[in-house]
Amino acid sequence: MAFVTRPFIRSLSSSAALHAAIKHVTVIGGGLMGAGIAQVAASTGHSVVLVDTSEDILKKSAKGIEFSLKRVAKKKFAEKPEDGEAFVQKVLKNISTSSDAASVVQGTDLVVEAIVENLKVKQDLFGALDKAAPEHTIFASNTSSLPIADIASSTARLDRFGGLHFFNPVPMMKLVEVIKAPGTSQQTFDALLEFSKALGKHPVSCKDTPGFIVNRLLVPYMLEAVRLHERGHGSKEDIDVAMKLGAGYPMGPFELLDYVGLDTSKFIIDGWHEKDPDNPLFAPSPLLNKLVAEGKLGKKTGEGFYKHK
Ligand SMILES: NC(=O)c1ccc[n+]([C@@H]2O[C@H](COP(=O)([O-])OP(=O)(O)OC[C@H]3O[C@@H](n4cnc5c(N)ncnc54)[C@H](O)[C@@H]3O)[C@@H](O)[C@H]2O)c1
Repeated sequence: MAFVTRPFIRSLSSSAALHAAIKHVTVIGGGLMGAGIAQVAASTGHSVVLVDTSEDILKKSAKGIEFSLKRVAKKKFAEKPEDGEAFVQKVLKNISTSSDAASVVQGTDLVVEAIVENLKVKQDLFGALDKAAPEHTIFASNTSSLPIADIASSTARLDRFGGLHFFNPVPMMKLVEVIKAPGTSQQTFDALLEFSKALGKHPVSCKDTPGFIVNRLLVPYMLEAVRLHERGHGSKEDIDVAMKLGAGYPMGPFELLDYVGLDTSKFIIDGWHEKDPDNPLFAPSPLLNKLVAEGKLGKKTGEGFYKHK
């Protein structure tokens, strides 16, 4: 009998049962990332509540999601605009908004947090939600640079806590880094992998180490480009062209820094430098620091390494 039942149990626990478990998703933070995560989760049939601190912010997020969905629909249903409109309305029905996280999480299977990149603020949020959410609810953070274990430490559900690191813009970018912290149970990790697949994404498994995979490689690379330029070894325009035409990258490192935000990049490198000051890959850059001090943060402020219209 064991030979008959085991594969059955395994297949249930590894896919259908776990995915079935995540139906209702609470996304906390209606900014750039949270709105994108909510949109994708709703588009794939999940019931989503998007939470932020005020109704005004949520109205803006909802508008952004509708705009983005209409763009997706225009492409996807180019021949049949009425099907596109039906798609938008169907997805919007799957999303509601709230400014009361503690009451929303009482009926949720998964909390995905995408609020400000500040350890204390994230810990306070999860500490409060831990008391309000049911036993089975899984918590996940979309942090770019903070250790998942440090965020989880404010809760009593270390086994049901992991990382889900999405990429910007979420509706377009296929990758999700799924992070297994030392306390994350295999069941939680598997559920997060399954959830990522259910969103139509491609998950990769990561340990809870600085920058996971993508940022651990990308941030030192971008900073090295700035140092190369600081040493007078190349103009930023030439370095960008070189990496696009020579390495096949869609953007050069300075274009990418402007897109990501110079403040975000500085925040990440400063945090890593503080933890590992002898690592030359994490050394701060005077030029990056100067631009941030001048408020030149990249595309979002109209100027970073380049001027943007
Ligand atoms: N921007 C990116 O490219 C990117 C990529 C991957 C991961 N991340 C990570 O995602 C997270 C969010 O980044 P973002 O770029 O979307 O930020 P954002 O500033 O666009 O949005 C953050 C939102 O969180 C809300 N918020 C802050 N504190 C809150 C609280 N206590 N409760 C509810 N809402 C709260 C803010 O009002 C804001 O709307 C960060 O941890 C960041 O490191 C960002």
